[in-house]
Amino acid sequence: MQRRYAVVPGDGIGVDVTAEAVKVLETVAATDSLDLALDRFDYGADHYLRTGETLSEAGLAELAGYDGIFMGAFGDPRVPDMAHARDILLGTRFKLDQFANIRPVRCLHERLCTLSGFSAADIDFVVFRENTEGLYVGIGGIFKQGTADEIAVQEDVNTRKGVERIIRAAFEYARQHERGKVTMSDKSNALRFGHDLWQRVFAEVQRDYPEIEANHLYVDALTMQMIKAPTQFEVIVTCNMFGDIITDLGAQLQGGLGMAASGNINPAGTSMFEPVHGSAPKYAGLDRANPFGAILTAAMMLEHSGLTAVAARIEQAVVECLEQRQCTRDVGGELGTAATGDAVCRILRG
Ligand code: NAD
Ligand code: IPM
Ligand code: MN
Repeated sequence: MQRRYAVVPGDGIGVDVTAEAVKVLETVAATDSLDLALDRFDYGADHYLRTGETLSEAGLAELAGYDGIFMGAFGDPRVPDMAHARDILLGTRFKLDQFANIRPVRCLHERLCTLSGFSAADIDFVVFRENTEGLYVGIGGIFKQGTADEIAVQEDVNTRKGVERIIRAAFEYARQHERGKVTMSDKSNALRFGHDLWQRVFAEVQRDYPEIEANHLYVDALTMQMIKAPTQFEVIVTCNMFGDIITDLGAQLQGGLGMAASGNINPAGTSMFEPVHGSAPKYAGLDRANPFGAILTAAMMLEHSGLTAVAARIEQAVVECLEQRQCTRDVGGELGTAATGDAVCRILRG
């Protein structure tokens, strides 16, 4: 059976790390006799500056025809308003209704656990970030721009459907993966309307999962607890904005942004996979970026396609590379991006 993936490297280190993720996918295709088709699309800042096109409706429809979409990262100093990134990245998440942004927070090696009093095994939870609404919907505007009376409005949209499906997805995941607890995090003490909805829906949905402990933390307290006592977390579910913020914090618990993977899931449609980090322009093209986040993201994409054992093998190869310090400087090695990808492939080939 052939599996077809669209690959959009994007900008900056997105290009560097995607090359390594592709190498790994090509390697497992050979070692595990998988029929993987990888088609590259050059959407990103260069394409936008050259053609004025970010990602057209037809372009998105083409990506939606694949079994999965892999994206590197978007963001380029030449496009200060991030217009292309909003269209390509957020446009894909929104228009393909990829409502569950699943971001695992796992520390794969003792050396990467820098939190005193804890070991790598203590850092093991999954964040379910609502991915299609909240502050990200782009509803609002600016009135009297540039004057002393300027008004900027950015609406926070929370729908019952949207809140319920992400909370339910978090509980379903917990049930399927034998996780005993779901923590919902909001700011309902201050955001009286939108996050009151989160409170009410959470109370309703948890009744369908009596075997799973349901608890709540305001997001400010959650960030403190993530550092103070991370072992308490198994599944965290939260809104779009908070999910973005806490997963950079989560990435640091894993050894840094270079280690963090994510999937943007539409269970009934086409999903998109991307490392949590951005385009880190200062490292672009320097063979410095850590490709593990992207490689682990590729593994998530294969897992989503049912290739669980292959995905596990890739993760194990990353763990071995960390063990042997066959990795980039941010995680304690001395290799460049490409040599790190090669090291993963060497281990996969056995
Ligand atoms: P960033 O994630 O690009 O980088 C922040 C810092 O994290 C880097 O300076 C670097 O020290 C470290 N880092 C990140 N990825 C790394 C890797 N693979 N290996 C080693 N170190 C790594 O965040 P930023 O600097 O805030 O944003 C840069 C650009 O990326 C901006 O335009 C931003 O909007 C965009 N961005 C895009 C995405 C995305 O496309 N998914 C995500 C976040 C930020
Ligand atoms: C992420 C990024 C994006 C987000 C940006 C680039 C719009 O930070 O994927 O975490 O905020 O979702
Ligand atoms: Mn982010």
